[in-house]
Amino acid sequence: MADLYSSPPIDIRGRPLTGVDQLVVPEVYRNDLKGIMIPKGEMKDRVEKIAEDISTFPIQGDLLSICMLKGAMYFFTDLNRALGALDYPVEFETLRSRSYHAEESTGKVILSPFDYDMIKDRHVLVVEDIIDTGRTLDKVVSKMKEHNPRSLRVACLFDKPSRRLPQVNLQPDYVGFVIDDEFIIGGGLDFNGRYRNLSHVGVLKDELRLK
Ligand code: IMP
Ligand code: MG
Repeated sequence: MADLYSSPPIDIRGRPLTGVDQLVVPEVYRNDLKGIMIPKGEMKDRVEKIAEDISTFPIQGDLLSICMLKGAMYFFTDLNRALGALDYPVEFETLRSRSYHAEESTGKVILSPFDYDMIKDRHVLVVEDIIDTGRTLDKVVSKMKEHNPRSLRVACLFDKPSRRLPQVNLQPDYVGFVIDDEFIIGGGLDFNGRYRNLSHVGVLKDELRLK
């Protein structure tokens, strides 16, 4: 197996938020935000770099790039477009996950039906928006490993390490940003289905989250 290289994630823990009046932020969302954690331009630059990191891993044939719906949609499209520009051929697949954060203790993760046989002998990349407790990626990666991919890598745009469950050992191979324990929205991430198309990543006001 080739050596895997990945540049260190950008650690923005402790960095002050940018005010909603310091960037162009849509009127419909701005009152719900504590502030902006990561402007879209910074995300774009980091995603390009993750693509470059991924492309240093030589593969035979096409990469099977799997989008974890729905949160990773934008990250997935930007990343794969960048991989194409780097001469790295990719095929697309999707896998839907839902987790129930209301029940913190049980934390059930439900995965959509997926034809796991297709990953046998393939070079696979799982593309996820954020790793929080780690339950979702842990479940996905262990299921995939049972089906003998040729290689299996995980790219995750955000990592909230302070929230990780002790029994989860998995660490994504490529991480965009390490962040504090704040609930983020935008860049594909939602709260109750909203805010996904906010292009910056912002922090939701606590009072909205607890309502
Ligand atoms: P985990 O299974 O606890 O690692 O959670 C992963 C999933 O929870 C992600 O795919 C997201 O859908 C969701 N999630 C976790 N933290 C956040 C957040 O700060 N904002 C939005 N969604 C989140
Ligand atoms: Mg989600």
